[in-house]
Amino acid sequence: MAYAWGSLLTAVRTGAPAYHTVFGRPFWEDLQAHPDIAASFDALMGPPGHGTPDPEVLVTGGWESVRTVVDVGGGTGSLLAEILRARPAVRGTLVDLPATVARSGEVFEAAGVAGRVTTVGQSFFDPLPASADLYLLKSVLADWPDREALAILTRCADAARPSGRVVVLNGVSPDESSGPSPELLMMVLVGGKDRGLSEFRELARAAALEVRAAERQPSGRFVVECGPTS
Ligand SMILES: C[S@@+](CC[C@H](N)C(=O)[O-])C[C@H]1O[C@@H](n2cnc3c(N)ncnc32)[C@H](O)[C@@H]1O
Repeated sequence: MAYAWGSLLTAVRTGAPAYHTVFGRPFWEDLQAHPDIAASFDALMGPPGHGTPDPEVLVTGGWESVRTVVDVGGGTGSLLAEILRARPAVRGTLVDLPATVARSGEVFEAAGVAGRVTTVGQSFFDPLPASADLYLLKSVLADWPDREALAILTRCADAARPSGRVVVLNGVSPDESSGPSPELLMMVLVGGKDRGLSEFRELARAAALEVRAAERQPSGRFVVECGPTS
């Protein structure tokens, strides 16, 4: 990864991810092909690197109407495992690339929730498991330029029930903060960016989603809750 920093200037000038320029293929493809790099990325994203994820992902509450959760680009499942551990009546589906979901088994076993989880190794640019009550996108959208971020949101909107919700955790910032911070590492690795709430609202609208609520949680995480446009 350190080599990619050498192309930072190109990344800033062109918006193209430097990792792809340096290594000849996208960061995510490289992770799938190299278990050693993937393992170090897992450690960066999941416990103990980031602590235990907060399972309180809803802004407007209403967990009693949530029976099914799909964590889209959910990595090796650390957030989904915590949600299922906290909510014994909920079932979950983890969607991520095949080599990543293949590493999730021990996370769900350790949390004692493996019996309530389905894992799906697929791209989130393909149709998602349909009709869940809740679709989660944690630390996913900031990895992608607008065209791809819109495609991911559209897949969530298409898959959700009319009463379903799409919840975005990380990657969107309140407008009143000092503006979307340049996430240099993500720009260098994958060409993505953080978005202000107004900018995100427009992107969501284009995906037939409307922002229903947004708040900064005690953990510092900024959460945006969306529903299908009525
Ligand atoms: C920054 S990580 C976030 C993981 C997890 N949501 C978390 O917060 O720990 C982004 C995730 O997107 C996944 N990903 C990248 N491209 C994908 C694709 N085309 N389809 C599905 N998942 C993808 C990666 O494998 C990775 O697990």
